[in-house]
Amino acid sequence: MTACFSQSLIRQLRYRRDLGLLFDPKSGVFHRLRNTVAAEMVELMFSGADDAAVIEQIVARYHVDPARVAADATALVDTLTTPASAPIEGRVPLLDIDKRFDTKLDFPLRLEIELTAVCNWACGFCYNVWKIGPDMTDTEVRRAVKVLPEKHIPTELAMSIIDECAERGCFVMRYSGGETLLHPDAMEIFEHGGRAGMYQVVFTNGHFITAERAARLAAANVRCVLVSIHGDRDTHNRLTGHPRAYDKAIAAMRSLQDAGINVVAEMTLVKGNLNGVLDVVRDVYSLGVREFGVMRYVPTGRHDDRYGIPVSVTMPLVERIDEVLRTECPGMTVAWPCAQKLCTSDTDSPIRSDDPTLGLRLSQLAGHCESGMVWGSVSYDGRLRNCPHSNTYFGSLREQPITQAWPALTDVVHAAVTTRPSCAGCAVADACRGGCHLPAFFTSPVATSLGIPSVGPR
Ligand SMILES: C[S@@+](CC[C@H](N)C(=O)[O-])C[C@H]1O[C@@H](n2cnc3c(N)ncnc32)[C@H](O)[C@@H]1O
Ligand code: SF4
Ligand code: SF4
Repeated sequence: MTACFSQSLIRQLRYRRDLGLLFDPKSGVFHRLRNTVAAEMVELMFSGADDAAVIEQIVARYHVDPARVAADATALVDTLTTPASAPIEGRVPLLDIDKRFDTKLDFPLRLEIELTAVCNWACGFCYNVWKIGPDMTDTEVRRAVKVLPEKHIPTELAMSIIDECAERGCFVMRYSGGETLLHPDAMEIFEHGGRAGMYQVVFTNGHFITAERAARLAAANVRCVLVSIHGDRDTHNRLTGHPRAYDKAIAAMRSLQDAGINVVAEMTLVKGNLNGVLDVVRDVYSLGVREFGVMRYVPTGRHDDRYGIPVSVTMPLVERIDEVLRTECPGMTVAWPCAQKLCTSDTDSPIRSDDPTLGLRLSQLAGHCESGMVWGSVSYDGRLRNCPHSNTYFGSLREQPITQAWPALTDVVHAAVTTRPSCAGCAVADACRGGCHLPAFFTSPVATSLGIPSVGPR
């Protein structure tokens, strides 16, 4: 029998009691315990019972042989704590866990913190409007951001949010910006998150990633970094307004991979780079990157004519990407993370369960984003909202904990995410939920009744 199975489990995994979920903060894998006895054993272990007490209580409840209980508990812990070489039933990859909750969560399962509003790039499509001069040297940029404390989340606030999350079972922390690494204490915040047992994900333009910083990120349990890349060198530099942006992003991907961090290349799809997607997939594949995200432009209300593209561009692109993956980039995964309508149609077009294109659609389109239901976002000034594209806030975390602010937010989102009459009968309505819910969210009667202003995307 493994010595101290209870201790092995508690050391390696985190437990979200209300949802019966176990989480491995090193691999980002969730385990959902479907077997009642296994769930009871885990509950006992996390309640402080030692091995003998776990065995004793299960024997008393089920009148079975103690040796058998000991062997089962040992096998259970071994299975849960062994890195996955093959899929195991109940073990759920990071993004898939989001799709399976039909009840309201008391507390989010993932949180995104916008560490800073400041950015050294000048992407015209970006929802975040605070830019500092792209002509500055890196030293000038670093000096400039230090005198803009009101544009960064206070370090103590970021750390107290992480502490509350660790306490309440929100184990996945994503950091964004602005340029995330321009928060003067970004590394200290990640290190705090690592110590608190968080699985951490960082969004970056890559500009300030060095080999040393990549190693420090890895040591702080930053397991995944999403690096923005919006085209070939010319297109990327033009869209970001920075002459070194492309080379910096590519160099960052190399350094991060060398440090053992999983790199996801993240492309924002706008009018000006629509034709370059396949080449970007090939380029990052040749660097060893195996995950690619396509974020179709979300309206900001500022330059929508210049950047916006219709939903209907999606399916032809999904087909061409699929061809490239099969013929040139084996092992690469492409996902469209920001809720894309699964029918990929500008007008709702319910899909039948025997639709021959369904498999292809589901191989790339991730389905509903679940923001405000499973995860939330904190702005650089400490306010809670459902996603970073929303400018509707549900209180300041400077004044109240997430525990208090979250219920009103998730109530409004749950009310906004209803099946539209035009989606009736759609076979994938549960996974799709009509795509992005922001338009309904802004006009939701519940939002109005709560006195939340009906405003469009920021
Ligand atoms: C706001 S940035 C922050 C992190 C970092 N500065 C970067 O460039 O990756 C996070 C991601 O959001 C994307 N993004 C910005 N504005 C967007 C919009 N209006 N629609 C969709 N994605 C957008 C960016 O391209 C980037 O990939
Ligand atoms: S639920 Fe609506 S938007 Fe989603 S695929 Fe079906 S018809 Fe299209
Ligand atoms: S609510 Fe809309 S904009 Fe926000 S993350 Fe979801 S799909 Fe994207």
